[in-house]
Amino acid sequence: STITVQANKPGAEISPTMWGVFFEDINFAADGGIYAELVKNRSFKFPDPLMGWKVPFRDSIRVINSRIDEKDHRYLRLPSLKSTQLNYIQNQGFRGMGIHGGESYRLVLGSRVAEGNNLSLLVELLNENGDPISKTQLSGLTTNWDKKEVVFEATATSAKANLRISLQGKGAVDFNYVSLFPVNTFKNRPNGMRADLAELLNGLNPGFLRFPGGCIVEGHHLDLRYQWKKTVGDLDERELIINRWNTEFMHRHTPDYYQSFGLGFFEYFVLSEDLGAEPLPILNCGMACQYNTGELAPLDEMEVYIQDALDLIEFANGDTSSKWGKLRADMGHPEPFNLKYVGIGNEQWGHQYLERYDLIAAAVRAKYPDIQLVTGSGPSADGDRFDYLWKELKGRQADLVDEHYYKDPNWFFNNARRYDSYERGGLKVFAGEYASHVRNENIKEATSSNCWLAALSEAAYMTGLERNADVVHMASYAPLFAHVDAWQWRPDLIWFDNLKAVATPNYYVQQLYSTHSGTNVLPVSADGEIVAGQDSLYASASLDKNTGRIYLKVVNASKEAKELVVNFTGLKPAAKEALLTELAENDLTKFNTLDQPENIIPQKDKAALKGTKLSLMLKPQSFVLVDVAG
Ligand code: AHR
Repeated sequence: STITVQANKPGAEISPTMWGVFFEDINFAADGGIYAELVKNRSFKFPDPLMGWKVPFRDSIRVINSRIDEKDHRYLRLPSLKSTQLNYIQNQGFRGMGIHGGESYRLVLGSRVAEGNNLSLLVELLNENGDPISKTQLSGLTTNWDKKEVVFEATATSAKANLRISLQGKGAVDFNYVSLFPVNTFKNRPNGMRADLAELLNGLNPGFLRFPGGCIVEGHHLDLRYQWKKTVGDLDERELIINRWNTEFMHRHTPDYYQSFGLGFFEYFVLSEDLGAEPLPILNCGMACQYNTGELAPLDEMEVYIQDALDLIEFANGDTSSKWGKLRADMGHPEPFNLKYVGIGNEQWGHQYLERYDLIAAAVRAKYPDIQLVTGSGPSADGDRFDYLWKELKGRQADLVDEHYYKDPNWFFNNARRYDSYERGGLKVFAGEYASHVRNENIKEATSSNCWLAALSEAAYMTGLERNADVVHMASYAPLFAHVDAWQWRPDLIWFDNLKAVATPNYYVQQLYSTHSGTNVLPVSADGEIVAGQDSLYASASLDKNTGRIYLKVVNASKEAKELVVNFTGLKPAAKEALLTELAENDLTKFNTLDQPENIIPQKDKAALKGTKLSLMLKPQSFVLVDVAG
């Protein structure tokens, strides 16, 4: 086959936000995942205050709940034993703690002496056999509550370590906060992110970071919705709730899954900044998940939701003399976060959604006319429900529509033209959640659904997103993260355990697009037609006006290798060499695992151009990125 790329005909601009990431605390993505805290239930706030804690002498331990300002101030009292044995509490982490030998860890203890003198604490990290891999002492405890900090090094690596704190001396010590972080977090932020996981996000060069979900924005009912104001300020004041994905209805129930909100809205904004991504918060719109209770806030009680939206913008962008801007400054970020987008509702639909959306949108528009508003569109981007929403949104105060689709690979191959027929010049699309779902339940390995077939079909589909960059301004694969020992949903873009992470083939597809985005779409055709499935080929191209590079993405979905001639018409004669990056695999069921992370990874190559023409031999079932000087 021959395809033509019109190298000197840059068309629609590609939004710098085009390829981004969707973050939701599902599959232990936040607590137990990217949020680097190693202690589970650090303030004993879980409904079972000792969940996550091993207390061998249970009868001696007391959990005390002093209610101050209508809030639970729980603490745990650890007394010495009558015998010479040391009494202790031991935290089991999130399916254990990932400890790396040679690395330093910071323990922060909120404590006070309740009884006795000259008490000290023995702090140990234990490996899975119960052997110490690190030890340190903490003394100088006083009868006043305060936070003590100690940094110590681990001598060996363990994926399932525990933290043990033993009382030395006669008396009792109270604890209201026990936190352990690696000293090395992403960009060395305090209360920061697990470096390897955040680095993988960084490797995507994301245009935006959408947070905090997903269904957790909605909650099973409104009391359990995500309320950003409860996720900012002092860490110990943040109110814990059960995670929406902690339900016995999930086929993998994780009863110890709570949202500590240690990773809250401030941290999401900082992470966005550290990644160079536009922050894209999604807010509850007065509706709980319509798949669950579908509970609604009455229209005349929407004030709190409206105010949450307005205050969030003030928190992100407001002057430090404003109430919420001041809180941002007090938390360590006096400069504004430069928020430009706010999403109202997650997967909501119907007139009930639009009525509530309108109220919030009107208030935001009136006060902050420059903020771009993102609407939901229901759970699956097709069907009557969806058409209704698009029709209704015309003329309303909206900028982007958040479409979600979890479909099989054929849907993705067959829908590469999805946006060719969308109306131009109106609302833009945010393809906010998508993933190709291959049913492969026989394979027990957690990462198996992230097989090459899924990734290849997404690569083909994404040519259609790029070609339609005048309509599609944002796109993100979902979900983003999953812990191999604690997931509820798959496939996911990045899998991890307590020590390691693996990028899926889907990740590499996203990465080739996002790191070779370009600034403008270039026309690509074969026999005068766009290339979207004929002869099993899919293609799109872009030009980066800043660097002059041209990026062509081609998918060969067939089982046969294919000779392809690419004619870059209008190419300057200087371009002699093309840089090629290829993902290819004959076995469509193949996937990467934590132990074999390189089963499917990009391979680099080069090829010479003859004049404006490049001859390629496309491998069967392959995705190739061609990079030439324009
Ligand atoms: O990505 C997982 C879930 O899928 C999201 O929480 C929700 O928005 C969608 O239904």
